[in-house]
Amino acid sequence: MVLKSTFLFGLVLFIFSCQSTAESKEELAKQTPAEQGASLYTMHCAQCHGEDGKLGSSGAKDLSKSVLADQQVLQIIKNGKGAMPSMKALLETEDNIHLVLSHVKALRR
Ligand code: HEC
Repeated sequence: MVLKSTFLFGLVLFIFSCQSTAESKEELAKQTPAEQGASLYTMHCAQCHGEDGKLGSSGAKDLSKSVLADQQVLQIIKNGKGAMPSMKALLETEDNIHLVLSHVKALRR
């Protein structure tokens, strides 16, 4: 009996741990704005630009050296440019786009 409830408890824990991806949006909401921007960047931008902005995959510009004004960066995120697709649908909200913009600027030194 004790063994059985230990097993059940383990099963419940296992099921809960499997839900973590479904809760990722909730997780994101708990982070600070800077952390949210970084997470969104990692999810949607890092595969081409790299965590530090310098990867340059498929001709992506080095974001640490970018000198574009906020409005231009917003334009590119929303509409894409050259080989970069529009990121508007993936980022979902205007708020998220602005969080990513802040992170992009934080990559500049
Ligand atoms: C599929 C690869 C890819 C993804 C994903 C991607 N980019 Fe890009 N990005 C590019 C490419 C390629 C360019 C160069 C476009 C050009 O100038 O022709 C670029 C250019 C840019 C520029 C302009 C830099 C400059 O100084 O000219 C910014 C800003 C930028 N990306 C931000 C982002 C952000 C923020 C995200 C995530 C929301 C993102 N990119 C996702 C490929 C990508």
